[in-house]
Amino acid sequence: MNIRMTTSAPSVLNTVAALRRQVAGWRRAGETVALVPTMGALHPGHLSLARLAMDRADRCIVSIFVNPTQFGPGEDFGSYPRSLEADIAQLRDIGVDAVFTPDATQMYPQGFATTIALKGPAEAGLEDKFRPTHFSGVATVVAKLLIQCMPDLAVFGEKDFQQLAVIRRLTADLDLPTTIFGAPTLREADGLAMSSRNVYLSPEERRVAPLLRETLGGTADVIAAGRDPGAAIERACEAIEQGGFKLDYLEFRDAASLGPAVRGQAARLLVAARIGRTRLIDNVAVSYGGGNEP
Ligand code: PAF
Repeated sequence: MNIRMTTSAPSVLNTVAALRRQVAGWRRAGETVALVPTMGALHPGHLSLARLAMDRADRCIVSIFVNPTQFGPGEDFGSYPRSLEADIAQLRDIGVDAVFTPDATQMYPQGFATTIALKGPAEAGLEDKFRPTHFSGVATVVAKLLIQCMPDLAVFGEKDFQQLAVIRRLTADLDLPTTIFGAPTLREADGLAMSSRNVYLSPEERRVAPLLRETLGGTADVIAAGRDPGAAIERACEAIEQGGFKLDYLEFRDAASLGPAVRGQAARLLVAARIGRTRLIDNVAVSYGGGNEP
């Protein structure tokens, strides 16, 4: 574990050139570097990713960039919460070394014409079914961030479970020299997964929202006890819809491939559902016939 004694302000880097100068300096001093990509509006879940990164590397950079290419038409790019000053203050308090805050012209200069085409986990029929251009935008920006920074490791939340699988695949397939870590989902006291989009929930929607985690947890227990997953999932779908959600999907998948769950192998239940104008996603690990995640 790396012990950090100071909480001085992080360097705020706005350009790829400044980022590379900073990383090169650390490299010359023999230090290892971790990157935590975010879109800002930081909450304790993001800070837990940064803490994990700080435990595993000498230097930690958090990037903050609301990436336009991963939002589809009619999604919330314009209204996505932005709170740069408060974000930097939180990162200072936990001792992050640098914050990379490029603007859109740094990331997508005039004439930008390259995107990453994906298969495998990006075509699992989960988020990709409802947000068909999302992962191409995520993969392109994450590949750029990894190439710009060339960190030893990067940390992503398990809450976006399909995203994590896509990024692991991308990193392996493009031979990027970065180890990808998934970090457990942080939850509110009532079980709701922390998300920057939770601010969209009305008080009544916020009261109902923990039903998603509750239902996932109950269903995972029923499957772990050896009952039929199909029937358990059917009951879960009904419970979620009766709670006032519009369900996009509730799927039981193999945790590694995101294909159908296989008895004896680590499995996940994944859900996406809308309540009012907010779309929530969540997932939990399932012990299926003795298969558990390492
Ligand atoms: O998970 C997110 O916040 C974003 O999808 C990411 C990985 C920072 C890419 O913009």
